[in-house]
Amino acid sequence: MTEIRVCIGTSCHLKGSYNVLQTFQQLIEEHRMHGKVDLRASFCMKNCNQPGVTVSLNGEKYNITAEKAYAFFKENLL
Ligand code: FES
Repeated sequence: MTEIRVCIGTSCHLKGSYNVLQTFQQLIEEHRMHGKVDLRASFCMKNCNQPGVTVSLNGEKYNITAEKAYAFFKENLL
């Protein structure tokens, strides 16, 4: 099971974490990946000073913008 956590702390929320979550959710639906991907929102991951929303993929942290969410998912999960 692939674990994805999207930070919804204040700073990431302001940088578009809701849109990142929405994009991931939509892609999981589209590709019927419910049994393979565990997507959850997370509190602050202590990475607020980075540009973009903090996302962790199997424990590794990344910072992505809402616009890059689709490409990130495609690159790492499809
Ligand atoms: S609010 Fe997202 S890393 Fe702190």
